[in-house]
Amino acid sequence: MPYISSEILEQIRDAADIVDLISEYVVLKQRGRNFVGLCPFHSEKTPSFSVNPEKQIFYCFGCGAGGDVFTFLMQHEHMEFPEAVQFLAEKTGIRLEQNREPGEQAKTEQLNRLYQLNLLAARFFYRALTAKQGKNAAAYLVTRGITPEIRKKFALGYAFEAWDSLLKYLETQGFNPKEIVQAGLAIAKEGGTGYYDRFRNRVMFPIQDQRGRFIAFGGRVIDGGEPKYLNSPETAIFQKKYTLYGLKLALPEIRRTGKALIMEGYMDVISAHQHGHTNAVASLGTAFTREQARLLSRYAQEIIIAYDSDNAGIQAALRCISIFDGLDVRLKVLEIPEGKDPDEYLKNKGGEAFGELINQAPTAFEYKLNLSLKQHDATTVQGKVEIVKGLLPDLAKLKSSIARQEYIKLIARKLNISEEAIYQELKQEYKLQKNGTAEDKKVNFRHNIEGSSRRVKESICRPEHDLLKLVLEQPELVLLIEKEIGFAGFTDIRVTRIFETIKQLLLASSQAPDVVKILEALVAEEEKQLLLALSSSDPLPVNDRIIEDSIKAIKLMKLKQLESEKRLQISQAEKEGNLDRVRELTLLLIDLQKRIQSLK
Ligand code: GTP
Ligand code: MN
Repeated sequence: MPYISSEILEQIRDAADIVDLISEYVVLKQRGRNFVGLCPFHSEKTPSFSVNPEKQIFYCFGCGAGGDVFTFLMQHEHMEFPEAVQFLAEKTGIRLEQNREPGEQAKTEQLNRLYQLNLLAARFFYRALTAKQGKNAAAYLVTRGITPEIRKKFALGYAFEAWDSLLKYLETQGFNPKEIVQAGLAIAKEGGTGYYDRFRNRVMFPIQDQRGRFIAFGGRVIDGGEPKYLNSPETAIFQKKYTLYGLKLALPEIRRTGKALIMEGYMDVISAHQHGHTNAVASLGTAFTREQARLLSRYAQEIIIAYDSDNAGIQAALRCISIFDGLDVRLKVLEIPEGKDPDEYLKNKGGEAFGELINQAPTAFEYKLNLSLKQHDATTVQGKVEIVKGLLPDLAKLKSSIARQEYIKLIARKLNISEEAIYQELKQEYKLQKNGTAEDKKVNFRHNIEGSSRRVKESICRPEHDLLKLVLEQPELVLLIEKEIGFAGFTDIRVTRIFETIKQLLLASSQAPDVVKILEALVAEEEKQLLLALSSSDPLPVNDRIIEDSIKAIKLMKLKQLESEKRLQISQAEKEGNLDRVRELTLLLIDLQKRIQSLK
């Protein structure tokens, strides 16, 4: 892509106008300073999607999607950044400069060649299934119940047994062995003399990115042998943690129904699609990642985990549930009778029966409860205690108090105990969470950014967030804040980082940075989210004292924290009988209390 200066990007951003652009996809209505509509990234009945023409940003309070015109196209149309720029440049008639950043063009060219290599390989493998040497592989697919139609849809193929058939072919197409290695398709021999094909005598499962480009392969042995599956290594165009097998093919159905099926393997996904469940995807032989969870929760509101029901599958399902912690999706877990894997079940019972299992799938919470009931003896006191204890964190995490109430009823019924007893335990649990160690708090907090005790945290962080909101209107304020209270020690560490970023931007340029500039400068997703959320929420009531008040509130909070620390230290010193220390600390405490009084 040609090198584009930030001035040009800004020109395009202004000319494209975010309201105009998004209006092409979403019906927007003006409300105050913002425009609102139904979010195109998750399904909803009341609008939580807001577009701010002044700041040229969008943000969904429901699912957290947000950004500027470019981000919108990247997320909605799955464009890459350069493409989104190109697209809007053409649309607005702004010419992109022709001088290129050194190295940029070469890099794009290199990536294109990797895509090209994978595409050629996919075609080569596909054709091989119909060759004479591919007969066994084709027969194998038949024994696995795969129809020609589905074979084509998933572009399944075969890698010949020879050591270099793909290499030779790709070389005739103008690629050198080094590139073929970089694409993960060949391996350099030890000692540096020559190369050989990575995949030999395997059934090939091409992996596409969500835009349909071939980026990698999985290859399965045909007749026993090790390893059962061999995957492409990570390359410049293939990162496992961001990739979901089948996503490209499943997206239309996931979008249509708002539901997605997560499976463990290639064969499960293929089988599901073949039996009419075309919303199935899988991670790639590795545990499901947070990145994959985020990606999927962009499109689906309900996610059904359909793993094997053996022990490994159960453990994987539990891990998967926790990966979705804090993301706004309904999670269910499919239970397959008799420990069968989904592929087998589909083959034996068909797609409709599988659909029944989906309908009956318990929620993640019910699933955990059922497991716990199996693991403990619910007729004994000890068993009941263990079961309730194990479920408390999950109960505490639930966002809906209605759901919490219902689940408590359910547990009470199953264990034959009173709901009151569970509420009592839950209260303890909340206290525990609140008084956890500092380290716990940090960890919890990171989880809670999108998570359950969001509301609690929000009230604690309120003054900090107000302050940040003010700074977004008047970035120069950041310098005052640094002088008055410093950046360290905000309860919400994101605030610290955003303030630091704003200060840097301010010092680096004569102009005050706008929200889009700050967004660009931030790296962490959580920080961007907070920034978008705050700048899209309603403006603070106009009030001369609001800056002072927020600063004061924060100072006060810090002092109170110090105060309670001092009290602890004093009682510790008392216990040790160290009277000098008690006196010394008490003086400090009195001083703190004076400062607190003077602030009030
Ligand atoms: P079939 O045995 O053909 O039914 O395949 P499956 O997809 O059901 O495989 P399985 O349930 O054994 O494993 C689930 C997924 O884990 C597979 O689809 C692969 O992605 C991955 N996997 C399994 N075995 C291996 C292996 O030996 N190496 C690697 N890298 N991945 C594997
Ligand atoms: Mn299987």
